[in-house]
Amino acid sequence: MHHSHNRATLGGKLSAVLVAAGSSVGLGNIWRFPYVAGDNGGGAFLVIYILCVLLLGLPLMLAEFSVGRATHRNAVGAYRALDKRWSFLGYNGVLAAFLILGFYFVVSGWTAEYMVHSVTGSLAKYTTAQEYQSIFENFIQNPWRPVLYTLLFVLATHFVIALGVQKGIERSAKVLMPLLFVILIALAIHSLLMPGGGEGFRFFFQPDFSKVTPSTLLVALGQAFFSLSIGIGTMVTYASYFKPETNLRHTALNVTILDTLVAILAGVVIFPAVFSVGIEPTSGPSLVFITLPSIFNGMPLSMVWSSVFFLLLVVAALTSTISLHEVITAYCHEEWHMSRRAAAWTTTAATALLGIMASLSVGILNGWKLFGLNLFDLLDYLTANIMLPVGGLFTCLFVGWKLDQQVLKDQITNHGALKFRIYRTFIFLLRYLCPIVMLLVFLDNLGVF
Ligand code: TRP
Repeated sequence: MHHSHNRATLGGKLSAVLVAAGSSVGLGNIWRFPYVAGDNGGGAFLVIYILCVLLLGLPLMLAEFSVGRATHRNAVGAYRALDKRWSFLGYNGVLAAFLILGFYFVVSGWTAEYMVHSVTGSLAKYTTAQEYQSIFENFIQNPWRPVLYTLLFVLATHFVIALGVQKGIERSAKVLMPLLFVILIALAIHSLLMPGGGEGFRFFFQPDFSKVTPSTLLVALGQAFFSLSIGIGTMVTYASYFKPETNLRHTALNVTILDTLVAILAGVVIFPAVFSVGIEPTSGPSLVFITLPSIFNGMPLSMVWSSVFFLLLVVAALTSTISLHEVITAYCHEEWHMSRRAAAWTTTAATALLGIMASLSVGILNGWKLFGLNLFDLLDYLTANIMLPVGGLFTCLFVGWKLDQQVLKDQITNHGALKFRIYRTFIFLLRYLCPIVMLLVFLDNLGVF
């Protein structure tokens, strides 16, 4: 049994926002959001996405924070402590964190390679989008280089984790987040001014609801949860380290706003450029890796811009991989009674193996398919479109219906010290709106209507 006084806590209010935002803001915003939005019609997707974030994501994040800080335990331990029968929710989380890391480390490795190529100047040697497309494809299909970068990233994550919760996570989250924001704004302005950029702007901001299908809804829901890092106990784990005086609803609100702004900004950077250089918005996971170098190309001091940008992307990815790694490490440490060191190494070894497989699955092992998807795509699809929404649904049901309402109230109001005027609305969302919407989206996708 681990007592709360043995556990590290994070610093002040700022730190809680920073570490949670560090987890949320990542490749989900800059790599996944644009490719998924491009794949699902642009403007209409954006509207649905924002609704999912505000109506489902925000209450859910607050719910996860409450569970974590009420119990001071890892995802499995937290649900078990509150009600044994609900520990499956924690297991779904630990497993999902593992599967997400499998492909997330691979994409993180790609960004690390792009950073290196920006610094050495080799990325600036090409000019057309077609050239960028073929160098991207050549790179990810190479049998060893992407694997090497994936492993480098796994090790970087491991060492931050091994430094301990307080020092490692808090410090790395504090670094460079505001700079990412500034750079994105500069890139967005540049992209909007590219010839033909207006068309991309309209694609992203003019909703065409005739393009919406049942799967658009599910994908938007999954992307919202993925981007906010909710549904699988990451925020439970992080909140287990929060201090008693941390204001949970301010933290949730700030993180949600920040995360959504970064995603929208990424869209404003990517789509005008996509249309300007003539790439298909439906290009999938390669979209940003082709578009970004094309944007930098037209900028003065392109090498500097692209080096700094990819460095920031690497940092943003790292603060996210840390949070996923921590879910598994905290679980192994507390539930299997391993030392933190052994728990961290176990997580690192297991995710490294899965990462290598996923990396090879877009190259030499591309023929190995399940349900028509290679391992990389399968991990992405299974986690974002199934495990996160299912985890989110059951989290709502648990916190809305099962959890002692006094526990929830105490967490949100810090035992009465804070007011929470919209408590009733919050409970209504958790109890009725969120579960019903999620169920309808699932049934819709199964073709029930
Ligand atoms: N939210 C992160 C991103 O957008 C990725 C991430 C971290 C995540 N922890 C998570 C996704 C937990 C789902 C669940 O890049």
